[in-house]
Amino acid sequence: MAENPRKRLTEIFDRALRSAFGEEFAGIDPMVRPSQNPRFGDFQANVAMSLAKTLGKPPREIAQAIIDAAEMDSIAETPEIAGPGFINIRLKNEYLADAAADLLADPSLGVAAPERVQTVVIDYSSPNAAKEMHVGHLRSTVIGDALARTLDFLGHRVIRQNHLGDWGTQFGMLTEYLIDLGWANEERHGGIDDLNALYRDAKAKFDRDSDFAERARRRVVALQAGDEETLRLWKDLVEESLNHFEVIYRRLGVSLTREDTCAESFYNDALAGVVADLDALGLLRESDGARCVFPPGFRSRDDEVLPLIVQKKDGGFLYATTDLAGIRHRIGTLGADRVIYVVGAPQKQHFEMVFKTAEMAGWVGDASLEHVAFGSVLGNDGRPFKTRSGETVKLTLLLDEAEERAARIIHEKNPTLDEETKKDIARIVGLGAVKYGDLSSDRVKDYIFSWERMLAFEGNTAPYLQNAFVRIRSIFRKGGIDPRAPILGEGADRAALKITNDTERALVLMMLHFAPTIEAVCRSLEPHRLCGYLYDLASAFHHFYEKCPVLKTEDAAVKRSRLALCRNTADLLEKGLDLLGIEVLDRM
Ligand code: ARG
Repeated sequence: MAENPRKRLTEIFDRALRSAFGEEFAGIDPMVRPSQNPRFGDFQANVAMSLAKTLGKPPREIAQAIIDAAEMDSIAETPEIAGPGFINIRLKNEYLADAAADLLADPSLGVAAPERVQTVVIDYSSPNAAKEMHVGHLRSTVIGDALARTLDFLGHRVIRQNHLGDWGTQFGMLTEYLIDLGWANEERHGGIDDLNALYRDAKAKFDRDSDFAERARRRVVALQAGDEETLRLWKDLVEESLNHFEVIYRRLGVSLTREDTCAESFYNDALAGVVADLDALGLLRESDGARCVFPPGFRSRDDEVLPLIVQKKDGGFLYATTDLAGIRHRIGTLGADRVIYVVGAPQKQHFEMVFKTAEMAGWVGDASLEHVAFGSVLGNDGRPFKTRSGETVKLTLLLDEAEERAARIIHEKNPTLDEETKKDIARIVGLGAVKYGDLSSDRVKDYIFSWERMLAFEGNTAPYLQNAFVRIRSIFRKGGIDPRAPILGEGADRAALKITNDTERALVLMMLHFAPTIEAVCRSLEPHRLCGYLYDLASAFHHFYEKCPVLKTEDAAVKRSRLALCRNTADLLEKGLDLLGIEVLDRM
């Protein structure tokens, strides 16, 4: 198992605290953190200041006592005390080299299995049938998939749930419209080219044609009553929508499959039970004929208590009722320890109220319910991202444009490459840029969609990271070295990896931050932290690449060691991007 220096230092300082001040100091967090500035060492321990009161001593004196008691010769130089009592730690080069060699041999790249494997349900993508996915669903899909992959990689049991919106009164209208289009005849009907157009046309007919509107209303009743013919048409429509979504999933390399679809209609039979159980628990109150829960702490702008409506006056159930049934299913049946909802920020209050209600009903137990909210995608004008004519942007067209723009850039860079290869590269670069542009911005904030920024080869972008990988691949190609073959052998040969200067040192230190970053992403559910890390890693590699010749190095031992560093960087970049759902390439 590869080393995690922060964990190691934490253990050492924990022991030091106990031996310096007694066993009652066991379990105190020594506050070991990576230093922001290399001048203050690689890591800092800030515990001395926080102990000053308890021990009644000046923090610098405490820091000295900790340092005297710390046994860390094997991994670090003697620490220095700075300012009021910071302990600055510089790791030894031999230790870093050794840790890097371990990393190279470790298929999990230093990421340790979790102490307790959790079952994590992730609700993401979750578009609505009979409507095109919009940019918000793109965000959910891309962020959710990155989280699913990362939690999976860490070793948790991940269950993906595509909570497809496939139920509601509009489906009565839509099925009736399908009949008008000839869908009642199973053999004859074709597919749907444009889901939005279907919806728009059906709605127009509904508004204009009172006879159709009446038929549509009857169709809703038939659908809810489970009429066979109606159900068949509705299923066709849902299937057709899923086909549309699947094209986008495949194109984006999203790991969702049909089996992960657990649509709203799946919960239909459970809804009456949800309401009955809430009633039996005494949690229901009637308001204007509707049945509601009033979880405490939610008020409208006019300071009125807010209801969570679970059943309408006409007996119909709602979005919230389905989500409550979903919680029971996910925790009760699927056995979730953690349920994650990757849904836009506007639904924040909905989830807060649903979670609170589920808790009050005792359906949550020890599990955690987490709304992973995200901000909106804005256009250059700072307003919601729309086409020039004010419509929502169709994802397929957006992805087409990404590939076209990337193709132009790739062509400029390599005019002589054959068309097929260029197209392939453009696809990987274009889609990677869109996904990364989304993932790299602080999740909860809105972000401005900018082709220029996300397709730039400089800065925190996918092309920059992919380019770093390409550089490494080209070193191996030029050197005639298999990029996948092991560079160092077993045992003593690991010592062939050596740190000869500060640029190499900085790169290795950065490599060791991979595992803690993955752990942090799994805790905070913020993929942008992984993006920031990969950017720092690629930048450290960039410096190394400028300062440290690899193939041109005379000294064969140094050359081999540097190749090992290149290989390590490539492995980390490839894995990191893979966790974000982004491909790497050999040339670009
Ligand atoms: N279909 C919903 C929408 O498009 C998102 C569903 C999110 N998941 C959930 N369990 N409510 O807004």
